[in-house]
Amino acid sequence: MADLIEQRQAHWQNVYRTKDEHEVSWFQESPAVSLELIHTTGAGRDASIIDIGGGTSRLADALLVEGYRSVAVLDVSAQALAVARGRFGARAAEVDWIVADVTAWRPAQTYDLWHDRAAFHFLTDAGDRKAYARCVRQAVRPGGHVIIGTFALDGPERCSGLPVMRHDAASIGAVLGASFEFAETRGHDHRTPSGSVQRFQFSRFRRIG
Ligand SMILES: C[S@@+](CC[C@H](N)C(=O)[O-])C[C@H]1O[C@@H](n2cnc3c(N)ncnc32)[C@H](O)[C@@H]1O
Repeated sequence: MADLIEQRQAHWQNVYRTKDEHEVSWFQESPAVSLELIHTTGAGRDASIIDIGGGTSRLADALLVEGYRSVAVLDVSAQALAVARGRFGARAAEVDWIVADVTAWRPAQTYDLWHDRAAFHFLTDAGDRKAYARCVRQAVRPGGHVIIGTFALDGPERCSGLPVMRHDAASIGAVLGASFEFAETRGHDHRTPSGSVQRFQFSRFRRIG
């Protein structure tokens, strides 16, 4: 388990040390689908939002611009978060930056909204997915929302050179368990910086118990 976490950390540290933001296949100028889904939850500007595996994503930037006041970004790569922080300048202090592997993280508070784009799909091991679900239950308050974007069932089988597990709402719902009620799902074609198209799905759940 510790070995697996160290391997993951080494992989992602290397990615963010050697590649520019625009060189990674998951880069997007604007996290439009994520923002739309966050708006759909009706979460107010005082909602606490955490972006899991946020990397150097511009979601946190967009949320601050929209006036959200409690934004956290968690990633296994300290390098990714250092790059993202650098982009924020003085406003970096307004974001809670958390270096952790989500499968081993013990949240110190609860959140109104959990967002994950393309981190969960790297958990190809059932034990890791179980640990992820345990963490979601600890981190998301009853009534809170979970948005998970992954490669869709007809999406790529690998990402960043690693195997992924492709999902739909049913497979994510099965991992999250009975405490989470399905709310909506949508497909999304992501165009990578090199011009290929990756089929994603984004599913939203609400914590009911
Ligand atoms: C494909 S990138 C997506 C980054 C970001 N969500 C985006 O949309 O631009 C996957 C991210 O998840 C992070 N990650 C992978 N496995 C993780 C884990 N077990 N715990 C925390 N972060 C993880 C990686 O460091 C990387 O930043």
